[in-house]
Amino acid sequence: MKAIKKAVFPVAGMGTRFLPATKANPKEMLPVVDKPLIQYAAEEAVAAGIDTLIFVTGRNKRSIEDHFDTAYELERELEAKSKHKMLEVLRSILPKHVNCVFIRQSQALGLGHAVLCAKPVVNNEPFAVILADDLINSSGKSCLSQMVEHFNFQHCSILGTQKVPMEDVSSYGIVDGTEVKPDLMEVSGIVEKPPVDKAPSNVAVVGRYILTPRIFDLLEKTQKGAGNEIQLTDAISDLLKEQRVLSYNFEGNRFDCGSKMGYLKAQVEFALEHEEVGEEFREYLRALKDKDLEKVVKIAKSK
Ligand code: UTP
Repeated sequence: MKAIKKAVFPVAGMGTRFLPATKANPKEMLPVVDKPLIQYAAEEAVAAGIDTLIFVTGRNKRSIEDHFDTAYELERELEAKSKHKMLEVLRSILPKHVNCVFIRQSQALGLGHAVLCAKPVVNNEPFAVILADDLINSSGKSCLSQMVEHFNFQHCSILGTQKVPMEDVSSYGIVDGTEVKPDLMEVSGIVEKPPVDKAPSNVAVVGRYILTPRIFDLLEKTQKGAGNEIQLTDAISDLLKEQRVLSYNFEGNRFDCGSKMGYLKAQVEFALEHEEVGEEFREYLRALKDKDLEKVVKIAKSK
């Protein structure tokens, strides 16, 4: 089977949980410290060996195209002001060998439909899907790199999963199956947003997929499901009747940045690890915890 070289980023959702911030701006452009969510996702893909990024966009998503395009005027201004470090930051958003393709999903008919929109570019190759609002902080290899390693050995579709508290299962696609290795499970069933008493397990699919191209044929036949949307989960449920599908509990902390709490937690964790602001931010949090108001005010005033 061909190597994974293409990644699809469905970014055409409405982002209703983050209104009004997402009224005119896509949620994938929300920054965590100094980078938008979509850039973390693109970097994760590139680290996993992907060279073609396919963005499935909708209305209000122009800023994503602009983010990955060259900003000639801004670069010229930075050059004129000798701001070389910032120029470097801009120029290193994507390596030169990586191509971006933008496809429009004219109606937000669901994640499954968004993935199907990428069919003409993906063609007959296995590919990755990354949901940028699921931000994953891994201590070693990135989540997608871990999954690609398994794919190179297993040659089948792999779903990125994590165990979630049982009371949360109705927010996720939930899988059932048999463990083949620690953290790797052969999937026998998958169901989108089941009620707690009907969930086959608490193993949830969280925003990372490697799929064989057969998924496109199945998506073409998939009817609207949960939430009256064309669900990727339903097509995967059909796929596993024909092909082996594995689920992989990846290493890494995952933040649901489509929700306010998940986004806030991501800000804190990424800020604490940030090269430039991490130390000062840690001091600030410590002073807040110790109710050391004098120090809080001093740090707050320092920038
Ligand atoms: P979500 O379920 O998070 O939906 O979509 P949403 O519309 O983005 O956000 P809320 O729930 O209204 O706050 C999961 C992923 O699928 C994409 C979204 O952009 C997100 O990355 N998506 C969803 C599409 O690209 N198209 C769709 O029609 C639906």
